[in-house]
Amino acid sequence: MQKILVARPIFPDVIDRLKQYFDVDWHTGDALPADELARRLADKDGALTAGDPITAATLAAAPRLRAVANMAVGYNNFDMAAFNAANVLGTNTPDVLNETTADFGWALMMAAARRIAEAEHFLRAGKWGKWSYDMFLGPDVYGSTLGIVGMGRIGQAIARRAQGFNMRVIYHNRSRVAPAIEAELNAEYRTKEALLREADHVVLVLPYTAENHHTIGAAELALMKRSATLTNIARGGIVDDAALAGALRERRIAAAGLDVFEGEPKVHPALLTVPNVVLTPHIASASEATRRAMANLAADNLIAALGEGPRAGRPPNPINPDVMGKARS
Ligand code: GLV
Repeated sequence: MQKILVARPIFPDVIDRLKQYFDVDWHTGDALPADELARRLADKDGALTAGDPITAATLAAAPRLRAVANMAVGYNNFDMAAFNAANVLGTNTPDVLNETTADFGWALMMAAARRIAEAEHFLRAGKWGKWSYDMFLGPDVYGSTLGIVGMGRIGQAIARRAQGFNMRVIYHNRSRVAPAIEAELNAEYRTKEALLREADHVVLVLPYTAENHHTIGAAELALMKRSATLTNIARGGIVDDAALAGALRERRIAAAGLDVFEGEPKVHPALLTVPNVVLTPHIASASEATRRAMANLAADNLIAALGEGPRAGRPPNPINPDVMGKARS
C-alpha cells in the first residue's frame, strides 16, 4: 500500500475513506513545524495539507512524494516552481466553497458597515445605559456601491448577491471577465485606483501571489472614502495590516472586516486595539457541509492522483497537470 500523510485534523470518515487505499499517517495536532513535516514526509507517496508550506526543501526531503492535495482553493502555501521542477502534482479544492465563502464575505462586510461586533462588545461590557439616536451609526449597505477586487468564482458569487441589495457593482481583476458575465452581474470594470475611490464597500477575493503582496497598503487606503469599509476574505499579505490598523485608528476609512492576516494565526497587535474592525479566524468556508465537501474533494484528488479509486490518474483539480505521468525528479 502507498503511504500518505494527512497533515491536519479532518473529518474521521474522510480518513476512513483514505484508509481504503493507503497506509495513513494522520497528524491530529496543531500545524506541524517545517522540520517535523519534512521528517513525516520522508517515506510518503502523497500528502493532504491545509495551508502547510510545501517548499523546495520539503520536496527534497521527500523523494517518494508524488502528489499533495491542499484542502483549500488557495494554494500559495505550495511553491509551484518547486512542484514543477520535482514533477510533484499539486491539487486544490475550488468551486465547492464558492457560495459559503461569498456568504461569509457578505457577513463580514455587513458586520463591519453596521458595526455589529463593536456594538456587541459594548452591550456585553454592560455599557448600554440608554438608547440614543446616534449610537453606532454606520454607512448603508443597501443601495451603495460594492467594489470587488478579484472577480473569480467567489467574487462573482458575491456580486450576484448584491443585486438583492440594489447595489451598483464595480470590480477590478487581472483581466476583464467575459461581457456576458459583466452583463449578468451588472458589474462594471474599473482600475484598482478608480474602484478604491468610488466604492462604498471594498471586498478582496483575489489569490495571493508575489505580485499581489500588499495590493492594499497606505497609498491605496488613502484613496478610499472616509465612510468606506474594507473586507479581506482572500489571504493575509494582500493587505498591509499595519497600514490598515493606522487607517482604522485615524478613521481614514470607517471600518474593516478581516478573516485572514499576515502571519496568521498571529494577528498584528495594532489590529487588536482598534474598535472598528471585525476579526475572524480564517473561517470563511467553515460551514459543516462545505468543509466536508472540501475534505472529500481533497481526498478524491489524492486518491486519483496516486492512481487509486474510480478516477485513477484523473484527479478532479490538478494545479499543474503537465507533470502528470512524469517520473519524480
Ligand atoms: C481558504 O482560505 C481557501 O483557500 O480555501
